Amino acid sequence: MNLLKLALTSLIAMTCISGFAQNNSQAVLDNILSRKSVRSYTDQEVTPEQVETILKAAMAAPSGMNLQPWRFVVVREQATKDKLAIGFNKMIAKAPVAIVVCGKTTGKLGGENHNWTADCAAATENLLLAVEALGLGAVWTACYPYDDRMNPAIEALELPKDVKPYCIVPIGYPAGNDKPKDKWKPENIHYEKW
Ligand SMILES: Cc1cc2nc3c(=O)[nH]c(=O)nc-3n(C[C@H](O)[C@H](O)[C@H](O)COP(=O)(O)O)c2cc1C
Repeated sequence: MNLLKLALTSLIAMTCISGFAQNNSQAVLDNILSRKSVRSYTDQEVTPEQVETILKAAMAAPSGMNLQPWRFVVVREQATKDKLAIGFNKMIAKAPVAIVVCGKTTGKLGGENHNWTADCAAATENLLLAVEALGLGAVWTACYPYDDRMNPAIEALELPKDVKPYCIVPIGYPAGNDKPKDKWKPENIHYEKW
């Protein structure tokens, strides 16, 4: 009888764990498919704890040789946001917080790190997914490789010579009702050969 009880309890526990794992997987996939660019925000503050959660996700990204060349500048001051908002990214001025994703362009021995842009892109996507998971909204606005976009950020943030601004991500609670776009295109996939 005891053995039967133990077997039943184990079976129930295993079913619960596998159901939990399935729900978790679905939640992760749903989050990826729900992400969208959000360009207008309410006045509601984004807390330092939320920013830390977002940056933890960003720093969990993969990077070439695990160099983790990303650096982040969190900007809340209106005067600085105004300096960063130069047209294509004017929503930065109205967001409660903006995160400037920067990359250290040199490797350990001082030579160029050819992977820094790919690494910063991976970190930026992680960051955007964390924003979505927290019910916030954001948009990736490019800096690199355009000098006219990078220079205002380099100046406003006083970046060192070997650190370049990769992109700026304004973050806030969505003011509108932006929806994710359906980008599933099977015709973009090739199997075995083109
Ligand atoms: C490399 C890159 C640069 C981008 N630069 C800008 C930008 O400067 N301004 C802007 O409003 N959106 C920018 N975006 C956001 C794209 O316009 C947006 O991701 C695209 O339209 C797809 O929409 P979705 O993000 O809602 O899926 C950029 C996205 C990427 C990946």
